Amino acid sequence: MITPHINAQKNEFSDRVIMSGDPRRVQYIAKNFLKDITQVTNVRSMLGYTGYYKNILISVMSHGMGIPSAAIYTEELVKFYGVKKIIRIGTCGTTQENIFLKDILIAMGACTDSNFNRIKFNNYDFSAIANFELLYHLKKCAYNMDINVHIGNFFTTDIFYARNNLFIELLNRYKILGIDMETAGIYNVAAEYNIQALSVCTVSDHITLKQKLTSEEREHALTNIIKLALNTIIL
Ligand code: HPA
Repeated sequence: MITPHINAQKNEFSDRVIMSGDPRRVQYIAKNFLKDITQVTNVRSMLGYTGYYKNILISVMSHGMGIPSAAIYTEELVKFYGVKKIIRIGTCGTTQENIFLKDILIAMGACTDSNFNRIKFNNYDFSAIANFELLYHLKKCAYNMDINVHIGNFFTTDIFYARNNLFIELLNRYKILGIDMETAGIYNVAAEYNIQALSVCTVSDHITLKQKLTSEEREHALTNIIKLALNTIIL
């Protein structure tokens, strides 16, 4: 089965998939953390791989930037390839003073300025929430691996550069931990198809402290969440 955006055959994906925005990051995960890998899709260079982690078959797939892109890949994986568990690993911004660059944030839920969920949910407010079982397992894995994580609300934005003071104040007032561009949409698609999804991000941009990771630092900072996501998705 070949979808408009994924050219893998029907049985070439595991039902457990780690997703991430950047195809090069996906390739890095496959090459450095999985065994016996096969590249299963390459349409638009949005790479996907399947291989073994601790003897369990898993896949890694890129989703690009923003809800529309991430939702296309999520929906096709679920509808055409039978995917049941998705952990997104990515980077995010923060405005919170008690959170620092490289901290790990878990999105228990995600607000959004996107119209995507409203369009799909009859213009009502959709509550975009993480799957509890994945969240619970990931928190336990983090404890066992001695990795500190913050768990709470996210804001998924369509506009990377929308950083005015009112917006920052609002996020602080409501204790929004992380800002990304995909989580609310992925949680919506997961809910619609009754599959498990969880989003885990490393802080790459501190908006109030005006700090950001270099692209080199980003790669290393992601190692902990890659391991955390892999150890969780095999449970
Ligand atoms: N805003 C939105 N998405 C992001 C950011 C940000 O600051 N950093 C990484 N992804």
